[in-house]
Amino acid sequence: MAVGVFDSGLGGLTVLDAVAKRLPDVPFVYLGDSANAPYGVRDADDVFKLTKASVERLWDAGCDLVIMACNTASAAALRRMQEQGLPEGKRVLGVFVPLIEALTERNWGDNSPPREVAVKNVALFATPATVASRAFQRELAFRAIGVDVEAQACGGLVDAIEEGDEILAQALVRSHVEALKRKMPNPQAAILGCTHYPLMQEHFQAALGEDVKVFSQADLVAESLAYYLERHPNMQGKGEHSLFLTTGDPAVVSDKATQVLRREIIFAAA
Ligand code: DGL
Repeated sequence: MAVGVFDSGLGGLTVLDAVAKRLPDVPFVYLGDSANAPYGVRDADDVFKLTKASVERLWDAGCDLVIMACNTASAAALRRMQEQGLPEGKRVLGVFVPLIEALTERNWGDNSPPREVAVKNVALFATPATVASRAFQRELAFRAIGVDVEAQACGGLVDAIEEGDEILAQALVRSHVEALKRKMPNPQAAILGCTHYPLMQEHFQAALGEDVKVFSQADLVAESLAYYLERHPNMQGKGEHSLFLTTGDPAVVSDKATQVLRREIIFAAA
């Protein structure tokens, strides 16, 4: 057993890196559904079915706890899976929660009424499916008032990152930031609401300007997981080995992952 980390493809590796660094003694099983990536252009039912199958694969691999390191899956499938009921002893955690906690400077368990927060104008960059779900705005509205969120669906960016086409990815970041700024000229903060986007964080920061605070999920999720495992140590399982699984071609995915993270990563077939 180990802790599972799931994404549609390579983006969740940004989260895996951070959680593995924060919790070096915990084995992680990573599953990238590369055969079906990108999820961000699929409809909610499709994302739900694919996400459910992947999470079940990780449960079968012995992971009691699965981190859904994919905003698109978290937006379209997490609540629905929880409402349908999870098997005894199994848990799934999404990646929105730690981000909203950080933005609103409060804890998830804090059920007091929504209140004013320091940040007023927030730019949200995410996949078309995450933007369409409005899940981020909904969760934020439970906790904060007076925050104006302008969302930009970053079409094409996940494909460019998955393909390793850095020039195209940079051009897309610039054009999506320009499009956002036409709608909201002076955001105070920006949310990278897709786990692929931290791989382009310096380009987002450069296009937005140094005075915009850019929130990305990896470190926030790592802290949140460490806190969760402190409170629920039995969810860690007993596994000793980390593993990388893909529904795509393991050789191709290993090459791309190694190129993206700049260290050797070997995937096996899921
Ligand atoms: N990395 C995923 C996310 O956080 C989505 C990528 C995709 O479109 O498959 O939203």
